[in-house]
Amino acid sequence: MPDTFILGIESSCDETAAAVVRSGEQMISNVVASQIATHKPYGGVVPELASREHLRAIVPVVKQALAEAGKTFESVDALAVTQGPGLAGSLLVGISYAKALAYALDKPLIAVNHLEGHIHAVLLEERQKRNRELQFPVLALVVSGGHTHLYLAEQQGESWSYENIGHTRDDAAGEAFDKVAKLLGLGYPGGPVIDRLSKHGDPHAVRFPPSQIKHPDRRTLSQPSKNSKAATPDVSSGRAGAPTAPPSHPRFDFSYSGMKTAVLRYVETHNMAVSIDARRHALSLVPKPKLEDYLANCDKQTLDLVASFQRAIVGDLITKTLAAAREYEVATLFVTGGVAANGELRETFEREAAEQGLPVFFPSRPLSTDNAAMIAAAAYPKFLAQQFAPMDFSAEVGMPLR
Ligand code: KG4
Ligand code: ZN
Repeated sequence: MPDTFILGIESSCDETAAAVVRSGEQMISNVVASQIATHKPYGGVVPELASREHLRAIVPVVKQALAEAGKTFESVDALAVTQGPGLAGSLLVGISYAKALAYALDKPLIAVNHLEGHIHAVLLEERQKRNRELQFPVLALVVSGGHTHLYLAEQQGESWSYENIGHTRDDAAGEAFDKVAKLLGLGYPGGPVIDRLSKHGDPHAVRFPPSQIKHPDRRTLSQPSKNSKAATPDVSSGRAGAPTAPPSHPRFDFSYSGMKTAVLRYVETHNMAVSIDARRHALSLVPKPKLEDYLANCDKQTLDLVASFQRAIVGDLITKTLAAAREYEVATLFVTGGVAANGELRETFEREAAEQGLPVFFPSRPLSTDNAAMIAAAAYPKFLAQQFAPMDFSAEVGMPLR
């Protein structure tokens, strides 16, 4: 099989990204233009500003990715672009540009699910390290600003299929990091700041109640999983297999809005508002705050709160993922998405998965957060299967992964 060079384009949220990947196994270039500075004053992504920034960045980012790969528009074999899930206006910038290129160059275009991209970030890097020993089935935790989802991933021939066995009922884990950082006057995005500050606080100082799922799932209830042991009757005892998971698998669902509210209550009952305002103001005067700037503006109470919050989220993510891994008897664990960059999450997952004899793989930090190499890598099996997108396909904001 000759080498296949795919130009990937990603614009689903607040990063404009392009990359060239060879045959799904070697990243030749990977360019990411972040919009953090644009959204920082608002403490979160502003969709209208995001699409405007994508429009500005897309052409130079794609040209840079080609130049760094020593490639031209003509010398790549195919184009790949994120179809969803994501922000409609943001997705449309990447899709329109990719369609125009594919049409003008007469090259095949492949539409990729962003979440599949996050899973293939792990596969790309493992192939790059020549690790061909991955055991199936794989359980993938995709944990980012928009998602906290558990997928069983299977490969049949060149095609991949996914089954969702758990998801967040409300806030995604990354969203909770971002909202808590905003609440504490620590700026945006919250995950990386809380990650670094947590090392300086006592994670046992504030007790967070375990995350509880009290509210019904807002999504349509899914059918019982075809792979779930929980849904299979226990023949030996003649009763339904225990524990019996209802169709939406609530044992493996997540909920983080309660933890965010617990932080808010703590702030109110400990009269932290004045010091938070002072910190927000002081940090707004520093163009690119460093760890020392954050530390100079955080008292012990804040550092302890941040460390305890992170410990609670990390603990919940790991407990549920490992329980799902046992339930579905998976051979391998992937942890991917922006929150997979978190130091405590990585260390604790590695330790606790090893205790269960389960190998766990993460992408490198640059490939944990949004990038286009993962999109080009996920497109490769579709290229081999000739699954090309029709020219009239459009953005799918809530695109499910199957
Ligand atoms: O995957 P990503 O770049 O975009 C989405 O698809 O959402 O993830 C961004 C999210 C943000 O919520 C950010 O706060 C979080 O990932 N994040 C982290 C860390 N780095 C990024 N969360 C915890 N610890 C980190 N080191
Ligand atoms: Zn993402």
